[in-house]
Amino acid sequence: MMKENILKLKKNEVPRNSMVEFYFPAQKPWERKPVLIINYKGNFFALEAFCSHNGLSLEDGFITDDGKIVCPWHGSVFDIKSGKVIDGPAKRDLKVYKIEDNGEELIIYD
Ligand code: FES
Repeated sequence: MMKENILKLKKNEVPRNSMVEFYFPAQKPWERKPVLIINYKGNFFALEAFCSHNGLSLEDGFITDDGKIVCPWHGSVFDIKSGKVIDGPAKRDLKVYKIEDNGEELIIYD
């Protein structure tokens, strides 16, 4: 059975209306899996960190006022809550990770 991979962060590590890439902990550095944490109007979401189009980092993209993220490379658009593709060239939805907000800390489950 695979052990559950858990990442814990302080909420202030992800400023309001920004997105920051973190890694789930792993024994071996090359096995660390990235995850994108998004602070959208004070609510937190966790998505696959790399765009499903060309596998490039979404971290430098931007957040729209109506709850979408836009990939900085070729402009794919994804829904922050569901990870669904809204506009291409990406075709595959982003994986959504479970995230808990306990007031001060965020806990993300792989
Ligand atoms: S890598 Fe994101 S749209 Fe191409």
